[in-house]
Amino acid sequence: MTRLLIHGTGRMGRRIQARLPAFNNFTLVGLVSKSKPEDTNLWSPALADIDQDVDLLIDFTLPDGTRTVAQWCEQNGVALVSGTTGLAEEDKLALKKAARKVPVLWAPNLSFGVALLDSLVRQAAAALGSEADIHIAETHHVHKVDAPSGTALALAATAMEGRGKRLEELLGSKDLGDLVEAEDGGLTFSSVREGEVIGEHSITFRLAGEEIELRHKALDRDVFAIGALKAAEWLVGQKPGYYSTSDWLGLN
Ligand SMILES: NC(=O)c1ccc[n+]([C@@H]2O[C@H](COP(=O)([O-])OP(=O)(O)OC[C@H]3O[C@@H](n4cnc5c(N)ncnc54)[C@H](OP(=O)(O)O)[C@@H]3O)[C@@H](O)[C@H]2O)c1
Repeated sequence: MTRLLIHGTGRMGRRIQARLPAFNNFTLVGLVSKSKPEDTNLWSPALADIDQDVDLLIDFTLPDGTRTVAQWCEQNGVALVSGTTGLAEEDKLALKKAARKVPVLWAPNLSFGVALLDSLVRQAAAALGSEADIHIAETHHVHKVDAPSGTALALAATAMEGRGKRLEELLGSKDLGDLVEAEDGGLTFSSVREGEVIGEHSITFRLAGEEIELRHKALDRDVFAIGALKAAEWLVGQKPGYYSTSDWLGLN
């Protein structure tokens, strides 16, 4: 039985709790978030208050929460699945540092569909190379704080890797929201915040006289919750390391 701690009890934390009964190998030992959710005696306001044994933590919070969690998991030998987006480089470094001691899987999108989309983007970008300009469009609910979305940035990074380049080199100091000019094929983003849209991403490869579009639409927030729990089931059996959804699903 895997003793599970959930960090963050917002939209995602609640869906993970709702889906947990279908996963027989987890026992929920605690919930950590800033404010107390209703109807629970498992809540703690901070990780420092946790005194029970924990095998795995699932984190859906904000970047400062994820940084704290990475340090706590490293110190306490706890495996970590994090889906928090908007992470700065130092937050990712904290996750990678923890991954030297414990298994860590971070993914800006934990749905199976986006994991597959990512793999298709890599294939298309490698085949089309610098001939194609790339446009990544995303739409999310109005509560989302980061833009472009973590998924859009991850798809952009994958597309650049497909071309044998790194996204950071292409972006330089430019604003992400602007057209990014590159010597070989441009990359643009557009972000829309609208109503309660769960998450839509499309990536369009523009060639002279034709376009190829790959698209994913999340219809239910539970795809991320189920993905997080399935990824967690897989992660508890892994050695310390920094894993992606491609590692979990064997898509590499
Ligand atoms: N990877 C994926 O598949 C995926 C899917 C959906 C969303 N996300 C990402 O997951 C994150 C959470 O999304 P959400 O929709 O659940 O957000 P949300 O509804 O705003 O919930 C965030 C939760 O985190 C808590 N929190 C914030 N800062 C914290 C800290 N420093 N320490 C402890 N708890 C903290 C909040 O507590 P209070 O309410 O008390 O402030 C709240 O319970 C976002 O980054 C979002 O983009 C990822």
